[in-house]
Amino acid sequence: MLDLFDSSRNKILEAAAYAEFKAGLAASGCQRCALANSRTQIVVDRGNPDAKVVMIGEAPGENEDLQGKAFVGRAGRLLDELLKELGFDTNRDSLIVNVVKCRPPDNRAPDPREAEQCAPFLKRQLELVKPRIILLLGATALRHLVPGKKGFSMREEAGKFFSHPEYPGVEFMVLYHPAYILRDMRKKPVMVEHPKRFREKWLG
Ligand code: URA
Repeated sequence: MLDLFDSSRNKILEAAAYAEFKAGLAASGCQRCALANSRTQIVVDRGNPDAKVVMIGEAPGENEDLQGKAFVGRAGRLLDELLKELGFDTNRDSLIVNVVKCRPPDNRAPDPREAEQCAPFLKRQLELVKPRIILLLGATALRHLVPGKKGFSMREEAGKFFSHPEYPGVEFMVLYHPAYILRDMRKKPVMVEHPKRFREKWLG
């Protein structure tokens, strides 16, 4: 996904090591989409790039934008807490990233153009980290990682494993986004149940 007319982005995408990629993107001052106007900083990730699990969320929110780390607000704390009960430490056992790396105004979902501009960065993250399992947190992540999937319902997709032709050998799973659970705590039991299914794959 190199662009002949964007040498600064190409340099980031050509980084051979994750640390180099991360430092390059964080310092890039990227202006490829309008989210550059609303962000405080570019939020590349949180966690361990050597882990075998990558979790993909939607976009940084207010706390993430201020701290420069993914999923450090209320939704992130809930995610950490739910997974900790399974012996899974999000900072040690996963790398957490987002579909877009900059905070959208008023925390709206990223629009397709913004996601498209950011997609090469997400793709490169996945190439460098080479996860065995990818957890898609919520509908935005599913929509952007599997563009052919139209008109799906999260009730049908959440908790399921699937494979993706672009990522051979990687197991994908869809989970409810933790912010969705925060809005309706009655959904918490499924958010607890689904990661239990994933735990077996993670340990296996
Ligand atoms: N929600 C997301 O999707 N990502 C974050 O980093 C924080 C909240």
